[in-house]
Amino acid sequence: MEHRKDATAKLMASSAIVWLIWAITLGLWQALEFIAPDLFAGIPWLVFPRMRQTHVNGLAFGWLSMAMIAAWYYITPRLTRSPIYSETLGIVTGWAWNLGLAIGVIGLRLGYTQAREYAELAWPIDVVILILLLLTGFNLFMTIRRRTVEHLYVSLWYIMGSLIWFPIVFAIGNVIWAPPTGALPGLNDAIWGWFYGHNILGLWFTTGAVAILYYIIPKEVKQPLYGYTLALVAFWFLAFFYSAVGTHHILQAPVPGWLKTVAVVSSVGLLIPVSAFIINTFMTLRGSWRALYYSIPLRFAVTGATFYLLVSVQGSLQALRNVNQFVHFTNWTVAHAHLALLGFVAFTMWSAMYYMFPRMCGCPIYSERLAWIHWWLTFLGFIGFFSVLTAAGLVQAGASAQGIPVIQVLPGIRGLFIGRAATGTMIIVAQYIFAYNIFMTARGKHSRAETAIDARKTETAATAPAGI
Ligand code: HEM
Repeated sequence: MEHRKDATAKLMASSAIVWLIWAITLGLWQALEFIAPDLFAGIPWLVFPRMRQTHVNGLAFGWLSMAMIAAWYYITPRLTRSPIYSETLGIVTGWAWNLGLAIGVIGLRLGYTQAREYAELAWPIDVVILILLLLTGFNLFMTIRRRTVEHLYVSLWYIMGSLIWFPIVFAIGNVIWAPPTGALPGLNDAIWGWFYGHNILGLWFTTGAVAILYYIIPKEVKQPLYGYTLALVAFWFLAFFYSAVGTHHILQAPVPGWLKTVAVVSSVGLLIPVSAFIINTFMTLRGSWRALYYSIPLRFAVTGATFYLLVSVQGSLQALRNVNQFVHFTNWTVAHAHLALLGFVAFTMWSAMYYMFPRMCGCPIYSERLAWIHWWLTFLGFIGFFSVLTAAGLVQAGASAQGIPVIQVLPGIRGLFIGRAATGTMIIVAQYIFAYNIFMTARGKHSRAETAIDARKTETAATAPAGI
């Protein structure tokens, strides 16, 4: 039995929002532990490291990955003019993803971890995720293979690239062939671990989010993408440079010098594809900037694109050895990680949700006003969040350069940690508003206040004298 149109996209997108609400709320719990370290003392499953791993994995594999796959399931049939190869397979994949991840994060709470950044989930869960990635790839590739348009749109290139590269990167990073501890000998483990750790960003979230931006931005401004060739050149540069940047995470470790040099050069080289992306996006927006005032998906998409530029420039800069030595092991890095995953990738996913849900449900968004409130609270909250973390990082870096022990600096940055909890709360409240808005949209509701405003506007238009 074949399911109805967009069934997989709807399942994946709704699940993603549930994961967002749960995992982002944990962010606040652990932010509170920075202010009151004994808050959950004596309760093993609430200690900071376990909380942090569930926050990161819940957001990376629950919210961001599922939202991204949902968007691909939405975009691919529209760009290929061919239905999804198998919605049934998509639905099974979606439920299995939810179940596997739920078991994985419960495991993390109980202490079952691989203790490798972004690869903490236990080995059996890695196997499940790998199979599901391959099945998603199979389903979308078969859809693309059966396309009825000859042209292969840029977004499809980026989707296909992500689906080929990420399963390979994921298998290597999780040392999938060596259960259950999955460790490589000595420093090889750190080198390959960071090959994965950076490429989950570069060859999964970046390529996947760029695919979505290249779809939504031209659609919302009703203009073709400025440069097809430019986008493809950027695609190959991304693949080339990203594969070697991982070692910039361990520039202070005794890994071979040539590998460090390759990582630094590649990190600076990433400015090429991001510049190409920004030129392409901004040229597509030329003459249509006013659309940012009324298109909710476009506002989120352009915010995400701008944060992509900023995080890339910051990343290239902090990969330089001197800068890296100064800011390493401080909250500067945490600010940078949130600029990437919250600033760039999550804003892109919110854009996709606002674009897809009304179209999939065949009704307008429940409340435009709530959507704008969501944007403002998240945007302002994030600017504050990023600023206090960067400031804390600089204080820590300065102190460390003078040889002041970490413990002595902590009282001085407590105020900044309180700032993080406060601005984080703004961001979290915004997500509850977002989830409510989408939930009501999916139920086909329209805000009564806005219905009244719409009715008044129509009435005024109808009674206005000709020429107004
Ligand atoms: C979509 C939203 C978010 C995403 C994608 C996200 C992602 C991440 C990532 C990737 C890390 C690891 C950082 C690193 O390795 O340096 C992290 C850590 C953390 N996040 Fe979030 N986060 C989000 C929202 C929030 C919010 C709203 C808060 C609220 C206060 C928060 C609080 C934290 C804290 C306290 C840590 C641990 C930092 C540390 O270990 O020093 N996050 N998050």
